[in-house]
Amino acid sequence: MSEAFAAVEIIAAKRDRHELTDPQIDWVVDAYTRGVVADEQMSALAMAILLNGMNAREISRWTDAMIRSGERMNWSAVKRITVDKHSTGGVGDKITLPLAPLVAACGGAVPQLSGRGLGHTGGTLDKLESIPGWRASLSNEEMLHVLQECGAVICAAGAGLAPADKKLYALRDVTATVEAIPLIASSIMSKKIAEGTSALVLDVKTGSGAFMSDPAKARELARVMVELGTNAGVKTRALVTAMDVPLGLTAGNALEVRETLEVLAGGGPADVVELTLILAREMLDTAGIKPLMDPADALKNGSAMDVWRSMISLQGGDPDAKLPVAKESMQITADSHGELIAMDAMKVGVAAWRLGAGRSRQGEAVQAGAGIEMHAKPGELVKKGQLIYTLYTDEPARFERAIESLEGSFRISSTGEKVDRLPLIIDRIEG
Ligand code: URA
Repeated sequence: MSEAFAAVEIIAAKRDRHELTDPQIDWVVDAYTRGVVADEQMSALAMAILLNGMNAREISRWTDAMIRSGERMNWSAVKRITVDKHSTGGVGDKITLPLAPLVAACGGAVPQLSGRGLGHTGGTLDKLESIPGWRASLSNEEMLHVLQECGAVICAAGAGLAPADKKLYALRDVTATVEAIPLIASSIMSKKIAEGTSALVLDVKTGSGAFMSDPAKARELARVMVELGTNAGVKTRALVTAMDVPLGLTAGNALEVRETLEVLAGGGPADVVELTLILAREMLDTAGIKPLMDPADALKNGSAMDVWRSMISLQGGDPDAKLPVAKESMQITADSHGELIAMDAMKVGVAAWRLGAGRSRQGEAVQAGAGIEMHAKPGELVKKGQLIYTLYTDEPARFERAIESLEGSFRISSTGEKVDRLPLIIDRIEG
């Protein structure tokens, strides 16, 4: 078959700041998925897009071409309204874990296709895999069964969903082209639109531990994604939220599942509970679901915990099994008295990763018990010698590099300096 375009001409057009036409975009995404456009050509095009941008029409067409590269899921057999949440990722961001069963307990159906962690941010599937027996890979029939039985399913996206993005994301990761708003927005939204949810709430993180550390850029990303979702018929809203300080008191797979269980039992750290409730209410409202009960009540009365237990069991997990604990631990204490005024999410995330909670190459195994427990957060008074972090790993040789990363990760002041942190909710964007 002769090809409609030559990749070189399309790369040159974007290099020279021209708009790509709809047929050019359709062809290049399809030809890349088929292997006709080579990795080095797509790398050059991705870099040209990063440097020269895309307008709204180009982003929308690119997203659509990535959706058309694979299958679109269909939940019409599910009686309830479907609604999902996507976070751009951060340190200690375990919110999906309590949120999906919570929204299901309030009357929604949550088909949550999630990913694994790469680099300093954790992955939802890695966290859940610390539960003995739990399975991330489900067939479409199994997904539907779990969703119909308990109202929520969290699993890996199958190979058939936006395969163009799978290939392109792996390429961007090794060519320094991840941080381009048109590419991030189209990557996330192609998967979420293909997933077939009727409503979507985006949690766009900003601050040191997020990959959009600049709030203005995070807002712009949120706006572009909301527009893409809305134009595709998905009711979409976004919250821009803080990721300058880790969320909650744990970063690491089994540690975060333990914290999730505390939240589902009606306790847990205040920031995790607050963000979970805000996102649950936003999801129910965006989808137009009349809640069966208030989300705060569903945490207090055990309804969300009941959904969690059945969701974990339906995916082969044992909700009563003891969670793995790392073999070794080390404590870090405060070296002065005063108020804890800052804690850097990126430094904590990198340390948890170096302890074995994350991976540096796709396919690498992670340690279920590795990570960091925080014993104080900004705004709290601490005494000299008080415990600030406990580090966990199965391999003690990892402590040294983790401690290096934690150097300067928190600040204690006795001079009345103001706490240096972003508000939890920075902005809200509606379609
Ligand atoms: N997550 C994605 O799925 N894609 C991106 O481009 C960035 C984060």
